[in-house]
This record gives sequence, structure tokens and C-alpha cells, in this order.
Amino acid sequence: MGFNPWNAFHEFFTEKDAFETIDYLVSSGLVEAGYTYFNLDDGWMMPRDGDSALQPNLTMYPSGIKGIADYAHSKGLKVGIYSSAGTNTCKGFPASLGYEDQDAKMWAEWGVDLVKYDNCYSAASDKSIKERYEAMRDAILASGRPMVFAVCEWGLSEPWVYGQSVGHMWRTTKDISLDIAATWPGILENLDSTARLARYAGPGGWNDADMLEVGPPGNAKLTLAEQRAHFALWAVIKSPLIIGADLKLLKPSELKILKAKEVIAINQDPLGVAGDLVWKQGPEEVWAAPLQGGGRAVVLFNRQMAAEGVTSRELTVHWHQIGYEPGIQVKVRDLYKGKDLGEFTGHFKGTVINHGALILRLTPTEAHESHERWRPWPCSSDPSHGSQGAYACPSNALMQRSESVLKQADVPSSTYGFAGYILTSVGGVFLGLMVGLSPLRGVLGRWVRGRQYRELHSPHALALSDRV
Ligand code: GAL
Repeated sequence: MGFNPWNAFHEFFTEKDAFETIDYLVSSGLVEAGYTYFNLDDGWMMPRDGDSALQPNLTMYPSGIKGIADYAHSKGLKVGIYSSAGTNTCKGFPASLGYEDQDAKMWAEWGVDLVKYDNCYSAASDKSIKERYEAMRDAILASGRPMVFAVCEWGLSEPWVYGQSVGHMWRTTKDISLDIAATWPGILENLDSTARLARYAGPGGWNDADMLEVGPPGNAKLTLAEQRAHFALWAVIKSPLIIGADLKLLKPSELKILKAKEVIAINQDPLGVAGDLVWKQGPEEVWAAPLQGGGRAVVLFNRQMAAEGVTSRELTVHWHQIGYEPGIQVKVRDLYKGKDLGEFTGHFKGTVINHGALILRLTPTEAHESHERWRPWPCSSDPSHGSQGAYACPSNALMQRSESVLKQADVPSSTYGFAGYILTSVGGVFLGLMVGLSPLRGVLGRWVRGRQYRELHSPHALALSDRV
């Protein structure tokens, strides 16, 4: 959790902005809420000197990056820096390809705690993306200073497959705002690119759907309801919560979203299992994650576009969709309101406005140790030979039913475009017709879920911080 200036300032973020931001992070209570990483992004560097060391731009940062790092540390924050696995950064400034060891060593001397590593200007290298990122991982390790390594290659080489062995977080997506202000379709695209990837995340390495667009400039094109839904969804998928706003222009209502304590607790839940899409029908979606102690985080998300006469929808989460036996009694709490909604059996229904989300914490009235074992992706009868994150199927037949429901929704729309949308919408009927035609069903299943099942071999290689 932290702050990054890119979305609000691009390369024009100065030392004055940096000091003001650090002060605001402290005085607003955001540091106390958990936003402890203060990051710089593209534009801080100048051409290398005679010793081939990268130089900070001293016109923009008269105290140097070391001065900023010292100030941030004196206020209880950590500091992030940015470079690229190419000859230049995306804005054309000098970058780290071929200078990995020297740069990592210098950042360690400056007291840097996080390195965001981009993927521009890499044509000069014949190495794969993974190899270029491994070179910086090794340089960071050799520097002797623990630094979070944030892989930012926009999901090109499917970094979630190898991410746990290379970095602590990896972007699953393009930039959330290609122009200065993000749009609602842009938020949805990043969400959809991250759907179905929860199984690759876990303590030590997380899917990163890019920065938060809560507050300015994100608020130029997003309503407050959209910002709340965006924050709730990023919390449940356990994307690192990195504020991308100009903090001095933040409205109280936006600060309230960023500080929503019970929503942040979902993102930071100690069980460390990322949430995922567990059910979808048209614009209605249910996203869920298991929590420590056997509870669930559930987001009821209504993607309905403005339609005549329809301003909200009633969304339901059924217990079988989230790995609970239908008969159990579950306490439901609205996390933005901080209000208990009562005890329910079998399902919970809530009214959600268009482009809005309800974020809930569900807690069974009677704890059962099996409740913590559920995962928001398909189980396997033989997890030892299964795909990444495979977990043993529960013996309870009703819980297994949730897996067939999950498969109907198993189409990330950004990957399969319009065909995916059609499949998702009519999936229930279509798959129903396919029952009994197993060979054909197998082919269809493989086609639809093609890229999900990847082996992940090596354990996490960086013994550094495991929460970002
Ligand atoms: C992009 C990256 C952005 C930002 C920008 C800087 O590649 O995704 O988050 O760092 O480069 O030029």
C-alpha cells in the first residue's frame, strides 16, 4: 500500500510535490491506514556520469533522491524508485538495461525500499522479458538491501506464471489511465484482465491491476459510486493499493474511501488468498475471497450501464458459490457502512446501484475448519498433479456444484472479446445442452480456459517483505 505520482503528475512531479505528499500522507492518517510506500516514477533521472552512475535530476530534486528517501524515512514511510529493463524509460530517460548491479547498489545506498521496473526500450537486448527481470531481481538481491520488486511489463509475458520467483507484484494490465484521467471502461478492462488470475497470487507475490483512480484526476471521469466499486474490487482481488491521486486536491468523500478500514482489512487479510470472480450473469457479478478464520469477502458488483428505468439491480450471493453448505447461518456486514445486516441462511440479497458495488464480510455463526480451505477457482481431485493453486475438492456434493457454476462464468471478457461476452451470457444454457457430450465439452472447456492452467515451479526466490 502506498502512493505513486505517475497518474496524477506524470514526469512533472517535483521535490516540493514529494515533500508535500509525504506530509499529507502522514497528516491525513493515510500512513496510519497502511499506505506506507512513497514511490517516485518516471522522470527522476538524468544521463549517466563518467562513472556510468545514473544521476538524479537536481533541478527537479535539489536534495537528490537520497534527500527524499531520508525525509520519507524520518516520517515513517518507505521509498520506491522507478526504472526500466531497457536502454530508456517509457518517457525516454536513461534506464537500467546492462547496469542492473550498479543501479541496484546505488538505490540500496540511497535507502530505496521498492523498485518498480518497466519494460520500455528493450529492443537492444536479445533476452526474454523474464530474463531481463531476473537480472534486476538478482541485482537487488546482491545489493544486500531488502527491496520490494514490482514487475511492470503490462501482462505481456503472463508474468503471473513466473512472478512468484521473480518479484513481489506484477502488473497484469496496461496502464489504468492512458490519458491523464481514467475512464470507467478502462477500470473494467483492468479488472477483467486480472479475473481468473487469483490462483497465481499469494504471500510474497501479487497480481497488480495498476494504481487506484480514487480522487483527482480519476474523479474527472468517475462518479463517487464508481470510485467506491473500483476500490472494493481492487481490495478483494488483493491488488496492491497504490494511490494515484494528487492528494492536495482530494475531497473528504474520496479520502473516506481510501481510508475505509474494514475494506483495507480485506485487502490485507492474513490468510493471503486473492479474491476472484465466482459468478457472472450479464452485468451481475459476484467476486469473493476466503478470509482467515473461514469468513468470506464478497463484492456484489453491478456493471449495468444506464438503462431507461433501471438504476439498480438486486444481486444475490448463494452460499454454494462461495464454498459454504446452503444450510449454514452466516452473519453479513456491509464494510463501507460498517454495519451488521443480520444473519442469513443459504443466500444474501442486496440492492446495488448501476456501476456500484456492495462489499461484505460474511462470517459463519459456527466456525468450521473446512471453511478456510475454499478457494475462488476450480478444485482438483488430485491437487498434487493440478495446476497452480489447485486445492482438494470438498467431499460435499453441494459445494462441488459451485464449481460448475464457476465454469459457466469462466470467460475473462478482455481475453475473448465479444465471443467471450456471448459465451458468458448464454453460458448456463449452452453448457447445460452440452451435458453428456463429454468429448466436445472437453474441447470447449480447453478452448475457453486455455491459458489458465500453467505450472508454477519455483518457490518465491526473494526472501523479502511479503505484503505490499
Ligand atoms: C508505463 C507504466 C506506468 C508508468 C509509465 C512511466 O509503462 O505502466 O505505470 O510507470 O510507464 O513512463
